Amino acid sequence: MRWIIALHNRTPLFLKVLGANGFLVVVGALGGYAIAHFGLASQDVLIFVALGLVCSLGINFFMLRIAFGPLFRLQQVMEAVRAGDFTARCPVIPGDPDVHRLTETFNLMLDQLNAYRQQVASQILRALEEERKRIARELHDETSQALTSIVISLEMMEQGLAGQESLAERVRSIRQYTLQTLEEIRRLTYDLRPSILDDLGLVPAIRWYLRNRVAEAGLQTELQVDPELEALRLPEDVEVSLFRIIQEALTNVRKHSQATCAKVRLWAEPGKILARVEDNGKGFVLQEALRQDPRGRGLGLVGMRERAALAGADLRIESAPGRGTVVELEVPFHGSRTEDSGASGR
Ligand SMILES: Nc1ncnc2c1ncn2[C@@H]1O[C@H](COP(=O)(O)OP(=O)(O)O)[C@@H](O)[C@H]1O
Ligand SMILES: [Mg+2]
Repeated sequence: MRWIIALHNRTPLFLKVLGANGFLVVVGALGGYAIAHFGLASQDVLIFVALGLVCSLGINFFMLRIAFGPLFRLQQVMEAVRAGDFTARCPVIPGDPDVHRLTETFNLMLDQLNAYRQQVASQILRALEEERKRIARELHDETSQALTSIVISLEMMEQGLAGQESLAERVRSIRQYTLQTLEEIRRLTYDLRPSILDDLGLVPAIRWYLRNRVAEAGLQTELQVDPELEALRLPEDVEVSLFRIIQEALTNVRKHSQATCAKVRLWAEPGKILARVEDNGKGFVLQEALRQDPRGRGLGLVGMRERAALAGADLRIESAPGRGTVVELEVPFHGSRTEDSGASGR
C-alpha cells in the first residue's frame, strides 16, 4: 500500500492519466484478441465493451477527482482573497507533484503580492500623514496667523469708529465672521494632525479626541488607561497608526452606531499593549460591510487593517446586529518607553 502512495506522490498527473489509459488500451486489445481467438458470442462482446467503458470512465474519474480535489481548495482560497482576506493560504496537500508545485507557487505568489501591497499601503499612509502634517503646519503658521492679525486690526478699527455706530457694527460683524473662520481652521488643523499627539503622545490625544469630538456629539464617553501607560511614547509610525485606528473606530461609533456610550480602554500585558473601542450601538455584519462597493463609502475598515499591519498590530473587529461593536488592537511592546525616552528616540 505504501509503495502505491509513494508512486502516487511522485508521478505527475500527466503520466498517471497516460499510464492508466495505456493500461486500458492494452487490456482492451488483449480482450479484443481473446474475443477474436475464442469466437465469443456477440452478447459477451457487448458485456466486454460495457465493462471496458465502465473501467475506463471509473479509473479516469477516480484519478482526476483526486488530482483536482486540491484545485477546488485553491479556488476557495482565491475566493477568500478576493473577499479581502489577504492572509488566506492553500494548505500544501501531499499528492500529485504538479498540484503540490501549483499550490506552493500560488502561496508564494500571494505572499509576494501581500508584501508588495503592504509596502505600497505603508508608503501611501506615510505620504498621507506627511502631507496632513504639512497642511496642518501651514494652516497654523500662515493662515491662522494672518486671520489673527486681521481680527486685531478690526478690533482697533472698531475702537476708532466711536460715534459711527452703523460702520462700527459692520466691522464688528466682519470680526465675528473672521473669528468663526479662525475657529474652523483651528478645528481643521487639529483634525488633520492633532499636535497633542506629537507633543504629548497617544493617551492625551485619545483623551482630547473623546472630550472634543465624541462627547461633543452627545455621546457618553469613558476612558480607562493603565496608569503605567499614561506617559507612554511609541515610535512615531506606530503611535500615529494606533491613533488613526482608534479615531476611525470612534468616528464610526459617532456616524453609524446610534450608540449612547463609547468606551476606550488601554492596558498592558506581558510583551504587548492592548486597546479596545467599544460601543453599545446597533452593530453590523462585518463581512457585509467589507463586501460593500468601496466607491460607495469611505475606506474606514480597510484603512484600519492597513494601518494595523503597518504598526505590526493585530486588529479584531467583533460586531453583530443589535449587539454593539468592539474593535480591539494588540501591539507587540517590549520595554517601557516613557515620554522622555520616547521623545529622545524620535
Ligand atoms: N461602530 C459601528 N456601528 C455600526 N455600524 C458600523 C460601525 N462601524 C462600521 N459600521 C458599518 O460598516 C460600514 C463601513 O464602515 P467604514 O469602512 O468605516 O466606512 P464609512 O464609515 O465611510 O461608511 C459602515 O457604513 C457601517 O454600516
Ligand atoms: Mg468609517
